[in-house]
Amino acid sequence: MKGVILAGGLGTRLLPLTRVTNKHLLPVYDRPMIYYPIQTLVEAGIRDILLVTGGNFAGDFLRLLGNGEAFGLDRVNYAYQDGEGGIAHALGQARVFSGGDPIVVVLGDNIVEDSIAPHVRAFEAQGRGARILLKEVDDPKRFGVVEISDGRVVGIEEKPIVPKSRYAVTGVYMYDGGVFEIIETLEPSERGELEITDVNNAYVRRGQMTYGVLDGWWTDAGTFESLHRAGELVAARSRASSERAFTG
Ligand code: DAU
Repeated sequence: MKGVILAGGLGTRLLPLTRVTNKHLLPVYDRPMIYYPIQTLVEAGIRDILLVTGGNFAGDFLRLLGNGEAFGLDRVNYAYQDGEGGIAHALGQARVFSGGDPIVVVLGDNIVEDSIAPHVRAFEAQGRGARILLKEVDDPKRFGVVEISDGRVVGIEEKPIVPKSRYAVTGVYMYDGGVFEIIETLEPSERGELEITDVNNAYVRRGQMTYGVLDGWWTDAGTFESLHRAGELVAARSRASSERAFTG
């Protein structure tokens, strides 16, 4: 299994913080945001990782991450997304890297509390199609939201005005090698982007979409409020683990 982290886009919701750096290089508690999705993949046993980024500060990722020594890696692969064509457009840059293999994709501004290893193992057992990870949230309108019927995902709506459930689609996606053919068929949405929700709905229509639900907390960090919340959640986790180490 290979891993892809999507860290392009302009981060306009975080201006002026993102005027002189990439959103994913901003601090979340004691690390740059991009460290967390890398850690998520490495903890799930994925060591072959592609980072897709873009914009004016792409070179800073190389200076920060190098060959991934901080994560025990001996290599990090990099790809450049021209413009801000959307999450699915960024994923399209991973075609050659994937070489037809299944991939786990993590959005660069997503942080999860627990290991995703059990979900990755479940996807490996599934063999083909796609798998998404869901989390029940208080504010589903901010996210892709699933409609579930008889235990199956029957549709996903991107930022719906009237959400059909409280389950957000998190930014952790697992796809078989067919995902790149789906991306080629996509048309830009009203906001001018190739939408990951359209990719996921293509798998739903084929009857090849499964899901898992995250137990621990999950957050994005792409708005001032969620960036602040992410810092608090990570700080609390860090405090809890030092207390555990102290008390044995
Ligand atoms: O966080 C989960 C949500 O992420 C999902 O529930 C939504 O379905 C999904 O569309 C996405 O929503 P956002 O509106 O929050 O996505 P955003 O535009 O903030 O992009 C999230 C990450 O994707 C960003 O940190 C980097 C990457 N990205 C985004 C764009 C638009 C790229 O790499 N390239 C891009 O062109």
